[in-house]
Amino acid sequence: MIRTAHTSALDNATLRAARALLEVAFDGELTAEDWEHCLGGIHALAWEGDELVGHAAVVQRRIVHGGRALRAGYVEGVAVRADRRRQGLAGALMGDVEEIIRRAYDFGALGSSDEGLPFYTRRGWKPWRV
Ligand SMILES: CC(C)(COP(=O)(O)OP(=O)(O)OC[C@H]1O[C@@H](n2cnc3c(N)ncnc32)[C@H](O)[C@@H]1OP(=O)(O)O)[C@@H](O)C(=O)NCCC(=O)NCCS
Repeated sequence: MIRTAHTSALDNATLRAARALLEVAFDGELTAEDWEHCLGGIHALAWEGDELVGHAAVVQRRIVHGGRALRAGYVEGVAVRADRRRQGLAGALMGDVEEIIRRAYDFGALGSSDEGLPFYTRRGWKPWRV
């Protein structure tokens, strides 16, 4: 089951579970700053009973382009527990996140890991060319 909620609506145990999931999914390379970047917006959470098996977040960031400060929905902390991958969970999480972006932001942006790249390009995300 996928649920979406603002950071303020999540209890400490859920936030701890999300951070732990990301720490494992990113092979222990999740910094305190990376986690900070996931906070203050909307989280999409994939639950199996009371176990968190997937997470994605979208937070607002201003991106200046052509002299205009655009409202970007920036995607952070996308991860699925290793034993639940390739079952469409990240796709379902991103579906909710992309709907939030369409409705609330000028555009969406994210920084992909190498592993995430085929996943995002298949969903229609395009490399940002400067
Ligand atoms: C990237 C990640 C979130 C994908 O989660 P997932 O639940 O397995 O993704 P889905 O099952 O929804 O995948 C949907 C499609 O994306 C593509 N895809 C997903 N993972 C892929 C991979 N490792 N290699 C190639 N294509 C991949 C496939 O086309 C897949 O469809 P298919 O299974 O029918 O071939 C997951 O592998 C993960 O948590 N990785 C570690 C953390 C990470 O790198 N996160 C991305 C940060 S930017």
